[in-house]
Amino acid sequence: MSHPSIRPRRLRTTPAMRRLVAETSLEPRHLVLPMFVADGIDEPREIASMPGVVQHTRESLRAAAAEAVAAGVGGLMLFGVPREADKDPLGSAGVDPDGILNVALRDLAKDLGDSTVLMADTCLDEFTDHGHCGVLDDRGRVDNDATNVQYVKLAVAQANSGAHVVGPSGMMDGQVAAIREGLDAAGHAGVAILAYASKFASAFYGPFREAVASSLTGDRRTYQQDAGNAREAVREIELDIAEGADMVMVKPAMSYLDIVRAAAEVSPVPVAAYQVSGEYSMIAAAAANGWVDGPAAALESLVGIRRAGADFVLTYFAVQAATWLA
Ligand code: PBG
Repeated sequence: MSHPSIRPRRLRTTPAMRRLVAETSLEPRHLVLPMFVADGIDEPREIASMPGVVQHTRESLRAAAAEAVAAGVGGLMLFGVPREADKDPLGSAGVDPDGILNVALRDLAKDLGDSTVLMADTCLDEFTDHGHCGVLDDRGRVDNDATNVQYVKLAVAQANSGAHVVGPSGMMDGQVAAIREGLDAAGHAGVAILAYASKFASAFYGPFREAVASSLTGDRRTYQQDAGNAREAVREIELDIAEGADMVMVKPAMSYLDIVRAAAEVSPVPVAAYQVSGEYSMIAAAAANGWVDGPAAALESLVGIRRAGADFVLTYFAVQAATWLA
């Protein structure tokens, strides 16, 4: 049976009509820019596997952060890259108030005040000499509870340095509850936690390992999730919410849109998704080859992540996308 009178195309006839009925919006405020700041470099250093993304010096970070805020992005997520000589088994350079991430947070807090949302990656992998996200026990395994002790110190150091939001990304059990308690005890009840609640062991983090000069050999499969596990992802999200997460994140984004959708359905708090380094690099590489229209492909990927249910998206395209959307 056909219904010749039912014609969905009527709603696509003109740009104005399509704008009127658009279901999903993408605005600069929905985009958070991840940024890297490195110790001991004099010039920004290009990251070969992430064209257009750099490791910043303290000075170049300040300029780029101001530019991102002027472009209207919703926030900044900061990662620190210490000197090789400052890495140790406990990741002490992350806790050190004079460590690169903490001094950079103070720079940006001073420059930008409350004009943006300043976030910090709360993890040890950039700072450990073994490259794992946690502290190792005497058999070389990541020790969950010893790691949480370090995470609390990291989070408090970041809050002391002016972070509005801390982002525990190590997938330790109980990390959100431990950090909440630690922040409150340190007088930081107003600092929010963006929990990387469901984070998968992913090949798409490849370029990030170059970006932070990671020392990791092996993998993170004893703490990050297996790609096929959706029910477990919901459990992780619900646990983090119960522990006091103010926002939850799914990571990576594009291969996990069903998880983003599931998170949006169960979560009473905002849901973020992280379009990770490899997702960025694939689009950037295809665009550089002329195989896809870069801006169109990037914006389509971001609309797709929003449509799946993300309230905001961490993406290396944040500033460019904000410009394309203007
Ligand atoms: C861990 C962390 C990682 C990323 C963000 N936080 C790396 C990992 O889990 O191996 C990856 C981000 C990206 O690939 O863009 N501190």
